[in-house]
Amino acid sequence: MSRRRLALNLFIYPGGHHEAAWRHKDAAPERVLDISYYQELAQRAEAAKFDAVFFADGPALADNIRYAARFRVEPITWLTAIAAVTSRIGLIATASTTYNEPYNLARLFASLDHISGGRAGWNIVTTSAPQAAQNFGLPEHPPHDERYDKAREFLDVITKLWDSWEDDAVINDPVSGIFADADKIHAINHIGRHFRVRGPFNTARSPQGRPVYVQAGSSDDGRGFAAYHAEAIFTAHQTLASAREFYADIKARARAFDRNPEHIRVLPGLSPFIGSTTAEAKRLEEEFNDLIQPEYSLTQLRQMVGIDLSGFDLDGPFPRHLIDTSGPRGVASRFQLVIDIVDRERPTIRQLVQRLAGGRGHFVLAGTPEEIADHIQTWFEGGAADGFNVMPPWLTGGFDAFAEHVVPILRRRGLFREEYEGKTLRDHYGLPRPDSQYSHPARAIA
Ligand SMILES: Cc1cc2nc3c(=O)[nH]c(=O)nc-3n(C[C@H](O)[C@H](O)[C@H](O)COP(=O)(O)O)c2cc1C
Repeated sequence: MSRRRLALNLFIYPGGHHEAAWRHKDAAPERVLDISYYQELAQRAEAAKFDAVFFADGPALADNIRYAARFRVEPITWLTAIAAVTSRIGLIATASTTYNEPYNLARLFASLDHISGGRAGWNIVTTSAPQAAQNFGLPEHPPHDERYDKAREFLDVITKLWDSWEDDAVINDPVSGIFADADKIHAINHIGRHFRVRGPFNTARSPQGRPVYVQAGSSDDGRGFAAYHAEAIFTAHQTLASAREFYADIKARARAFDRNPEHIRVLPGLSPFIGSTTAEAKRLEEEFNDLIQPEYSLTQLRQMVGIDLSGFDLDGPFPRHLIDTSGPRGVASRFQLVIDIVDRERPTIRQLVQRLAGGRGHFVLAGTPEEIADHIQTWFEGGAADGFNVMPPWLTGGFDAFAEHVVPILRRRGLFREEYEGKTLRDHYGLPRPDSQYSHPARAIA
């Protein structure tokens, strides 16, 4: 076994990651609101010894729901039901620092961590969808730097809340009648720009101390935030060079914050179409691409690059000159990623939307199990990744093919675990359990 551990998450999207997945004959769109479907998926991922399952989220309905199963179910609730039927796999939920209160969110994640015996992870997002603002009484979505400013304070508050009970605050001694040592439970007395929170938290510290902090921003603010706080980072890259640059940058920023870079798992996305030959895998990808609906794809593209191409000839060249690189950038990191594809490959509009349909900018690879495993190994050993968010194009078959055919190759190559070695998500990722910031050396007893 190589010393570094390859991490694999199953990133679950209703129906699968390909935007037309729900229309494919092997999909199960009637099950996308059925919790047993997700429970079964998580159980399969656990049988394959995956590190975690992960749900994305946003507090607003997608613009293009007419053409795809892109609603959001609340992930912590979903993962709580999954926790009850699994015992090892990590459970990562997305939650927004822009549209939540720290005290409420602290309770939800601490509960998930208690319920699951230490398997909770929090994908900390500032929310990219601007339409969320109108669901929360705001005139407009706060600007990017404002959202990150609030996120930093949010993290400060929620971390203090989770730390506010020292690990040994619960005494639980019925004979003396002492349940808790009140000296080890701390008010946090936070007064800041965005939040006023007295604390302490209203339950004992959870098994992992805090959930694993995950982050997925790629802008300068996002990278700085991730390097300071995150223990796992989700990211999208189209080339080994860009993944390497991101990886090196994150680890260097972490060092500058005096953090151990090995305590940050960088996990790019990978959406695999798997066939017994490369040609068969490519045919499978084409089958999905043939089901694309341009109305949906063009809305996606508009969100990424800020221009509406409805009415354009899909087989004409992508009109690069219309892109305003100085104005607002939609989802900033995807903006650059799409522009890079356009500059590198000079695609038609149809080719570009097909290129993005599988994984919204994440790496899509059609190949044999060996080719998929080669990609994983090259990035893992080449300074580009500590693991991957596996994003099956459709569910459940797209995941089953990966578990059945790719995972055994990774094991044979000594890259991926045969068995779980620990019980918590921190154990799987090789992360330390943080001490409470309020803990102090044992007081001398007079
Ligand atoms: C794998 C992955 C998953 C993400 N999931 C979400 C999500 O569920 N909700 C969300 O609002 N943003 C999500 N994002 C977007 C980022 O968290 C971030 O908000 C976005 O990239 C904009 O931040 P930036 O400008 O710092 O890049 C995700 C990004 C990646 C790479």
